[in-house]
Amino acid sequence: MDPISVKRMLLWFCIIASTHGKQCGQVDDNYRFDCHPELDASQQKCEARGCCWAPGKSPARDHAVGVEFDVPYCYYPLDYPGYVNGVPTPTEYGFTVNLTRTTKSYHPKDVMNLKMDVLYETDSRLHIKIYDADRRRFEVPIQTPPFTSKAGNPTYDVQLAPTSGFTVTRKTSKEVVFNTTINPGFIFCDQFIQISSSLSSSYIYGLGEHRSSLALPIDWRRFTFWARDQSPSPNINLYGVHPLYYNLEPNGDTHGVFLLNSNAMDAILQPAPAITYRTIGGILDFYIFLGHDPIDVVKQYQDVVGKPFMPPLWALGFHLCRWGYNSVNGTMAVVERMREASIPQDVQWNDIDYMEGEKDFTLNPTTYKNLTKLVADLHASGLHYVPIFYPAISSSQSPGSYPPYDTGVTDNIFTKADDGSIFIGKVWPGDAAYPDWFHPNATRWWQTLARKFHNAVDFDGMWLDMNEPSNFVDGRLQGGCLNNNTYDNPPYVPGVGGNSLYSKTLCPSARQHAGLHYDVHSLYGLSEVRISYTTLTNIRKKRPFIISRSTFPSSGRYAGHWLGDNVSEWPEMHASIIGILNFNMFGMPMVGADICGFGGNTTEELCTRWMQLGAFYPFSRNHNSLGMVDQDPAVFSKASQDSSRDALLNRYSIIPFLYTWFQMGNANGSMMARPLFFDFPYEPALYDIDTQFMLGEELLVSPVLTEGATTVNATFPPGRWYSNGATITGEPPMTFTKTTSVVLDAPLNKINLHFRGGFVVPTMIPQQTTTKMVENPLMILLVCLDVDGTAKGHMYWDDGESIGSFENGHYTWWSFSAKNNEMMSTIDHDGFEGSSKMSFFGFLVEGVSTKPTQVTANGQTCQFEYFQTSQILDITCPKMPFNKPMTLKWS
Ligand code: GLC
Repeated sequence: MDPISVKRMLLWFCIIASTHGKQCGQVDDNYRFDCHPELDASQQKCEARGCCWAPGKSPARDHAVGVEFDVPYCYYPLDYPGYVNGVPTPTEYGFTVNLTRTTKSYHPKDVMNLKMDVLYETDSRLHIKIYDADRRRFEVPIQTPPFTSKAGNPTYDVQLAPTSGFTVTRKTSKEVVFNTTINPGFIFCDQFIQISSSLSSSYIYGLGEHRSSLALPIDWRRFTFWARDQSPSPNINLYGVHPLYYNLEPNGDTHGVFLLNSNAMDAILQPAPAITYRTIGGILDFYIFLGHDPIDVVKQYQDVVGKPFMPPLWALGFHLCRWGYNSVNGTMAVVERMREASIPQDVQWNDIDYMEGEKDFTLNPTTYKNLTKLVADLHASGLHYVPIFYPAISSSQSPGSYPPYDTGVTDNIFTKADDGSIFIGKVWPGDAAYPDWFHPNATRWWQTLARKFHNAVDFDGMWLDMNEPSNFVDGRLQGGCLNNNTYDNPPYVPGVGGNSLYSKTLCPSARQHAGLHYDVHSLYGLSEVRISYTTLTNIRKKRPFIISRSTFPSSGRYAGHWLGDNVSEWPEMHASIIGILNFNMFGMPMVGADICGFGGNTTEELCTRWMQLGAFYPFSRNHNSLGMVDQDPAVFSKASQDSSRDALLNRYSIIPFLYTWFQMGNANGSMMARPLFFDFPYEPALYDIDTQFMLGEELLVSPVLTEGATTVNATFPPGRWYSNGATITGEPPMTFTKTTSVVLDAPLNKINLHFRGGFVVPTMIPQQTTTKMVENPLMILLVCLDVDGTAKGHMYWDDGESIGSFENGHYTWWSFSAKNNEMMSTIDHDGFEGSSKMSFFGFLVEGVSTKPTQVTANGQTCQFEYFQTSQILDITCPKMPFNKPMTLKWS
């Protein structure tokens, strides 16, 4: 047994008193594992479960201030009967072992014989599956890497405990990263599976989709997983499910743990620190990633669930949307006012008001009859168009009048109720049926409808909403769900919103091709985006762009996400940063929140600040709810417009850099938006910072998040930092040897952006649209020297929309490196013809401490201006192609 477990065991044993024949004792409050999580706990019920009952020693916390949980009164005794480990048998890939229970637990239908397969998949990735030894159970149908050979030199060690449970240790540091022996209450029943593990530190991140701080609170918190149409608020399950966490180890190493399970589930964090999973189906399918740093864990996670899709270039531009433009004219008026105000915009969206009677694949015959023309006009001016779709299909139209329903019936693709009839719930159009995206006919059905609609409205992307799936009634419109059914009313119900699994959704007893809705509910959004991805690819023959509300591990392969129905209030901006960082941890870099807020009316100040922040969301979309005051950036005062334009121009100028990160994410899982500590895991002062974020390794974004503020208390990781170009003549670079707080000026027209010394950032002269930018791409290299005068960087570029540009070699890849007053640009791969249109517009070399007397590029003399205070050298050279090697020298 590892030293930590021994210590914990001793702590227990030395104070053990045996009550009722059980080893209860005064177990340290933090190590009590809840044996009666249901609300109606009593001593009698607790003891009937073979557990111990006693108030905790710590003072009870104040439930009036939002504390939901506390030290459990009812907890497992040390000798709670569990599974006994058999003798491990070595396998080709690791080992397998039988786990046997002789005494039943208090939950119905114990699985008495389990099997645990331990797969040494890579040197840093361990896969552990615990399942019924005798009977096949539901397993999540996502594609995970096929197992090929056993890791040669694993960095972890797996040890079975003498009686039950196991530990996983990192070999180098001897840190125990997973230890299930901590809770004797390991239970595996048909509809209740519970397992706990110690955590390496209280710094744990992830476990989505929830509203919380970035570093998750561990003071008895419950995170429930079950996709739900739920506007973001704390302590409740939201749209998506991502049972993955990142845990910092005491020495700054990081590991990740992913439980691949789609059933309704609770994860409880308690101060031991420990995590307890309680899921009500499937199997225990754990992946444990031993990263050397958090970025590496993100990569390893994406090796399992798949790398994020490569977006088209236009998707990196600014998107504008609202519910309630109410007509083609209303939509176009906003596009025109954006153009008038010269505020960049790449994509215009429409919400359900474009539909007739809010039915998918229809157009409102009066207000949106000219949508075809609107989209053609948008395309003619270099913009793109994304309309909303949702899964529920109106089932109450007269036969023959609404093909989506009629053909869905013929193709048999609708989800069935437990009695075999089509499951009817209620969504925007009223009575509605739910496509079963797992049905083999579903792709053809959806594609046929989408293609027909596309023939009329030449849309470029798909916005997939309400796919939790949402239902305006609980269960069936007629009759709800069956109360006597073990799936609709399972023995244990995790802490889901609405207190029942069918609250605002289908009955878990409904049937889909891949199984019971009970098992596949949280996969609904994923199954829809998979099909939509294929559909859009086939229809447009270009890179698909899909934004989905409900997500599950591996959704990032097909779609991005927006954080749902936020409100126009200041704290929501802060929450959006956390949401974006979380989804980047979940392998979904294309994520953003509704800029300026969805519900409620914004104010000009809030929206101006939010536009500044949102300009640096990976997915930058302003979206508004029905009936709210307009909030597109062009509707506000000139000062506000100027600020939004500046922020967006700043975004557009770094699009080459953003695009490169998206590509690196797609190719090898490199992370796009990052918490500050991800690049500095050995700086504890950064572990809680969630008011700022990094884009890639190079850019630190420090937004204003409070009303009336004109400064930002920013935290800087060690290193050299350069303020963004706006202050070329002003601010000197800042160099820190340790994490440092700085009060930054932030007048209403400014967002603080800092580039990190040591990097070359490729930028492009911004325009109103990315379409315009690529007509004549003019490049400026931002060379941000480190204290030692070096910098490096790279850039990826392609035609912005073809499928498989990278795989087919149709791209250009540059490397940049600077040292000794010299910067070289080399072309490592030159497969994109269009790169010959690109030329150097100039250079900003930052961190040059003395004024040079001469600057040359490829031997030709360049003009330059030197700014002593900011240490910036602003260089303009004779016109040079960007796709040819180049050496810049200053002396
Ligand atoms: C949902 C979406 C929101 C959309 C609305 C109307 O609330 O989350 O973005 O505007 O439905 O379609």
